[in-house]
Amino acid sequence: MTTLNLSDGRTLFYRDVGAGRPLVLLHGFPFTSACFAPQLDAPPPGVRLIVPDLRGFGQSSPGGSTTLMEDFAADTLALMDALTLTDAFVGGVSMGGYVTLAVTRLAPARVRGLVLIDTQPLADDEAGRTRRETTARDAERLGSAVVADAMLPRLFSSSASPAVVGSTLAMMRAQAPAAVAAASRGMALRTDARELLSRFEGPTLIVVGALDVITPPERARSMADLVRGAQLAVIEGAGHLPQLEQPQAFNATLARFFKSLQG
Ligand code: MLT
Repeated sequence: MTTLNLSDGRTLFYRDVGAGRPLVLLHGFPFTSACFAPQLDAPPPGVRLIVPDLRGFGQSSPGGSTTLMEDFAADTLALMDALTLTDAFVGGVSMGGYVTLAVTRLAPARVRGLVLIDTQPLADDEAGRTRRETTARDAERLGSAVVADAMLPRLFSSSASPAVVGSTLAMMRAQAPAAVAAASRGMALRTDARELLSRFEGPTLIVVGALDVITPPERARSMADLVRGAQLAVIEGAGHLPQLEQPQAFNATLARFFKSLQG
């Protein structure tokens, strides 16, 4: 892990592996950069993979009591600045996808292409926002393990490897309750990104686990319909985290996408 010292005194930890086209990959909620461990171990040929721990998660410093997707996005852009990347492919899984869309809204010229994994462009409805506040309060009052345990049954297919399920649960349980609460409140405030996606002109890969019950394949198909020329890949035998549950199929998909690009 490498440390970036941000201008406000916080630190951001990140991994930077491989060489070639830069791809910044952003983790979901409430995970860390380790949710891309199989990709960090084998980055796609010709790709430089940069994976931060988002604000408050993993080893990165916390922020305030609500972390907007734009706050995570600003940190991502600061990381790109520090690495002197004028632009990059940007992508993420689930909440990382919401952050990717926020990066695209804040700095469209810096997003060369998108990799959207088990995510969606809609904002929360009223019931969703209420659930986010309940999650935030559960994290603050009862601890991250309670939130992690409640999320786990919806993350993987029934045939997922027990070792992967166990290490993912441990990762979620270990996150700081304040960061979990702040991100949950931030997700509740995110805005609809369908219009933004329909204007995006760069190469786009949309990946979804065939068995994802949180952001199911129908949602991924609707999202792919919005983006001109988007490639859609459905990963069989995977739920919400295909990069962890079916890493070989996921890595092959990522490699095919980058190979398909001209230049
Ligand atoms: C995630 O995996 O990041 C979450 O499921 C996102 C969400 O709750 O919307």
